[in-house]
Amino acid sequence: MEQVDLPKPGNLSERAGINTSIRPATREDIPTFIQLQKNDGFSHQYYLNRERLELLFDRGEQFFVATHEGKPVGFASVDCEQRATAHFLCVDKKHKRRGIGRLLMKTLIDETKKRGLSRLDSYVEANSSKEIFLEKNGFVLAGFYTNRYGNGQDASIWKIEW
Ligand SMILES: CC(C)(COP(=O)(O)OP(=O)(O)OC[C@H]1O[C@@H](n2cnc3c(N)ncnc32)[C@H](O)[C@@H]1OP(=O)(O)O)[C@@H](O)C(=O)NCCC(=O)NCCS
Repeated sequence: MEQVDLPKPGNLSERAGINTSIRPATREDIPTFIQLQKNDGFSHQYYLNRERLELLFDRGEQFFVATHEGKPVGFASVDCEQRATAHFLCVDKKHKRRGIGRLLMKTLIDETKKRGLSRLDSYVEANSSKEIFLEKNGFVLAGFYTNRYGNGQDASIWKIEW
């Protein structure tokens, strides 16, 4: 069993600072998610649009927003339909490396636990810096998904269990 020692959500990791917090999101946050993804400094296999996000809300996916001094700086969601999978996890590039991603991931883990599941998965582009982020957050490599995005790019599958 893995020991995970991460900051509490709503509580603040040292670098995120006292004016950073996480709240559950609503559909009104959809335009914010679309904008934040454009500002995270990465290129993506899938860009978000309102239609896709509405569909995920309809399916019961739980979204969270990170705010710093009242302004949205990141978001993430978790799909707990059958198994739990972390989605998106996005931080505005101006606010990177301050522990906000870590805080969002901790929130997704807590939400998954609350729903009675004991494992959270995350798929990321293989050989990307996102793998380091997952490793630092207690995830271990669980496998690969060849040509995950249909353009020759493989994904690596990461899991955390408790
Ligand atoms: C990945 C992402 C969510 C990280 O957010 P963040 O708020 O900057 O991350 P944190 O500050 O919580 O970082 C925690 C640790 O992860 C690691 N890490 C984070 N970003 C990293 C990077 N680009 N390269 C290497 N390690 C990284 C570091 O070890 C970091 O701790 P340190 O700063 O003390 O070294 C953010 O870069 C992002 O929005 N990426 C684009 C969206 C995405 O790829 N989502 C999928 C993520 S699984």
